[in-house]
Amino acid sequence: MNQREPGHPRGCCDPTGQGELQRLFKIKLAQRGVKNVRANKSGCLDQCELGPTVVVYPEAVWYGSVKPEDVDEIIESHIIGGTPVSRLVIPDAILNTTHKK
Ligand code: FES
Repeated sequence: MNQREPGHPRGCCDPTGQGELQRLFKIKLAQRGVKNVRANKSGCLDQCELGPTVVVYPEAVWYGSVKPEDVDEIIESHIIGGTPVSRLVIPDAILNTTHKK
């Protein structure tokens, strides 16, 4: 939910300041009756250049450039179904490195 000013070269996970992704995860998990998963807020995860970032634990699957329209797929495929959404996974080769896209 970290915010930076518009046009900042690193970007940020919450450009509107509305916490939309976290709110959507929370609402949609509740709508599905998923009670053993929490959609926690987070500050900067230092993957800013990779777009809005979401991490699913305990698997430690990192997603980048997550958009509100991706939330349903992450919940259905990964959180409920156990299959990460590969098109959004940040590759290990660039995760937590200075060599981001
Ligand atoms: S602001 Fe989200 S990873 Fe930095």
